[in-house]
Amino acid sequence: MRSPRPSSGVADLESDSRSDTDEQRRERIAPGAGASSPTATATAAAAATSAAVEPQAGLGVRLEQLRAFYGDLEAVSGIDLDFRANEVTAIIGPSGCGKSTLIRCINRMHEEIPGARAQGRVMLDDLDVYSPSVDVVAVRRAIGMVFQKPNPFPTMSIFNNVAAGLRLSSGRRGDLRPKVEAALRSAGLWDEVSERLDEPGAGLSGGQQQRLCIARSLAVDPEVILMDEPCSALDPIATLKIEELIDRLKARVTIVIVTHNMQQAARVADRTAFMLDGRLIEVGPTHEIFTRPADPRTEEYVTGKFG
Ligand SMILES: Nc1ncnc2c1ncn2[C@@H]1O[C@H](COP(=O)(O)OP(=O)(O)O)[C@@H](O)[C@H]1O
Ligand SMILES: [Mg+2]
Repeated sequence: MRSPRPSSGVADLESDSRSDTDEQRRERIAPGAGASSPTATATAAAAATSAAVEPQAGLGVRLEQLRAFYGDLEAVSGIDLDFRANEVTAIIGPSGCGKSTLIRCINRMHEEIPGARAQGRVMLDDLDVYSPSVDVVAVRRAIGMVFQKPNPFPTMSIFNNVAAGLRLSSGRRGDLRPKVEAALRSAGLWDEVSERLDEPGAGLSGGQQQRLCIARSLAVDPEVILMDEPCSALDPIATLKIEELIDRLKARVTIVIVTHNMQQAARVADRTAFMLDGRLIEVGPTHEIFTRPADPRTEEYVTGKFG
């Protein structure tokens, strides 16, 4: 397998990686696909040193007529939807309406399920995620995923959990520590674990494990993070920490979060999309979706009449 990333700018959370050009960022995902991007995704100022989360102009995601199938079952039925760069978009809707399927299509995890396939387009900025020139492994780094149940490698140390993705993408083992530290700081976990980096990840609380998983995806410098009900196994205090983290992280990545918790969507999401039976019913500023939705079905759902 070819290396999805060139040796320059290997997931370095320190200031120098912020000098990656758009071309370099694209080249990681679609090596040799050409560097013709007129789009303004200028990398943000590289200077910040004190902030744990350095701002970066992120990349948006656009779904165009996305359909997803499990065998003959159509779980996502032709969705057009924009996830704007550096915003948090919540996806809400009753169980089984296709939320998880939809987000798994964004980083090409859906196709890993036997019998599953997707149709339509997923654009990461101006890059077609399903184009044959795309490196799927690099796509999954650029578009990270956090699941409902925290899934750190249980016997692996805290340090190695974060370093795992870096090791795959970097030959330079010697300088992993600053990157691991930076990712743990960005995930708001450093102060809690800095004295026990060699202990197993499974020894952390549920909320800490979830932040460890977020640190693991941040370590490889993603453009987008997909979160599938990331707080549903957590207590309210751990949930609040994740929500605060999401709010900080959007300065640097684009975030899509599936949630069953209406209050959570209202707290963290700039925009909210409501799905029903594999279709997008509506999307808009979160406040509008909750206070004056265009579709009566949205109103029924957000006011708890079904779902
Ligand atoms: N691995 C799978 N194999 C077959 N069908 C699946 C699979 N995962 C989900 N589905 C079906 O696809 C539809 C959408 O499911 P899902 O995306 O998990 O919904 P949600 O996340 O909104 O609860 C449901 O009908 C579900 O039964
Ligand atoms: Mg789901």
